[in-house]
Amino acid sequence: MHKNENQPAHDFDIQARHGADSMTDKSGKSGGSLVVPRGLWRTAWKTEQEWYESARQLHDLMCRQFGLTDLDGKSVLDMGCGTKLSKLLIDERRPIARYVGVDVNSDVIDFLQHHVSDERFSYHHIDVQNDLYNPTGMPLADYSCLPLNGEQFDIICLFSVFTHLAPHDYHQMLRVLRPHIKPGGRLIYSLYVQEDASHRLIHALQNNDLQTVLRILEQTEKAFRKLPPQSRKLIEQEFISRTGSDIKSLAETDINDHKGGAAGVIRELQKGLSEKNILALARKYNELLGVPVQDYIDRRPDQPLLHVVYSRWYAHKLIEGTGWKALSLNMPESAIQHYFMCCPDGEDQA
Ligand SMILES: C[S@@+](CC[C@H](N)C(=O)[O-])C[C@H]1O[C@@H](n2cnc3c(N)ncnc32)[C@H](O)[C@@H]1O
Repeated sequence: MHKNENQPAHDFDIQARHGADSMTDKSGKSGGSLVVPRGLWRTAWKTEQEWYESARQLHDLMCRQFGLTDLDGKSVLDMGCGTKLSKLLIDERRPIARYVGVDVNSDVIDFLQHHVSDERFSYHHIDVQNDLYNPTGMPLADYSCLPLNGEQFDIICLFSVFTHLAPHDYHQMLRVLRPHIKPGGRLIYSLYVQEDASHRLIHALQNNDLQTVLRILEQTEKAFRKLPPQSRKLIEQEFISRTGSDIKSLAETDINDHKGGAAGVIRELQKGLSEKNILALARKYNELLGVPVQDYIDRRPDQPLLHVVYSRWYAHKLIEGTGWKALSLNMPESAIQHYFMCCPDGEDQA
């Protein structure tokens, strides 16, 4: 079961603290197991087995996405680390060259510093403000980089951290992480992304799922035809300015004629429209239809930052100017929400 935006992200637990039952062995090279008290799990998983399994899935997802069989020889910065990846790496003696965990929660970092003796593992507490996790800390905006002595990593990961970041911290987090990536390194972070027609269109195009593309275009066409002439004109202008193509071919296409106009439109979309352009267009289109997609929603105002959701467009937009380039925004999988894969901006994406 993955956590999706319909499931409240109760992935923090500040009630329980580690207590006398926190039996731990020294870990690392000796191969001991790290026994993490329930209060330091930092996630919503109900059973230890689920929690542990989610760590395995995240580890395996990283390996798969980075084309690796394991993390052998790789250095990893885990920002907002919690405890579960440490537990997995240590308990299963998974290969890794270096692991640095950073968290605003001092209990988590104290625990890991005291119970992990393997020298490849380091932990740092940072007193960064977060309404949910650390309300009295220093604004992230006051940091230009992290207190890591300039160390750089092959991989930077943040799992279920952007799910609790407001837009200004989203952008700033990416900025402060940028100096800590090695050339050729990769960033992966999960977040909640609001689903709308634009994402289905992008996904379908990426997967050459012609039937879904046709269905979406059909809905789009119907909606388009219902618009007042002035709005249609605006959309047409927007489409032309962003894509260089003529939206009339979309509006006037006989959508059921797979060989004719619709197929042509799809081909145009596949080759002519970047994801960014489709997003911008879909956003404008929604606005004109009177159903704007909200760029940022804090779903539980009574518990700020417990569960925040971004529109696709805004999630991309906030990456601009941070020194990162989005390679892909991926759909939720088991144990993970949507997740971005990024590389340093300007680097070859091959
Ligand atoms: C939901 S938990 C996820 C923990 C871990 N990544 C995992 O997947 O189990 C979010 C973690 O991010 C930490 N955190 C929140 N804001 C942070 C920030 N600005 N910088 C670093 N860590 C932060 C919290 O203390 C918490 O441990």
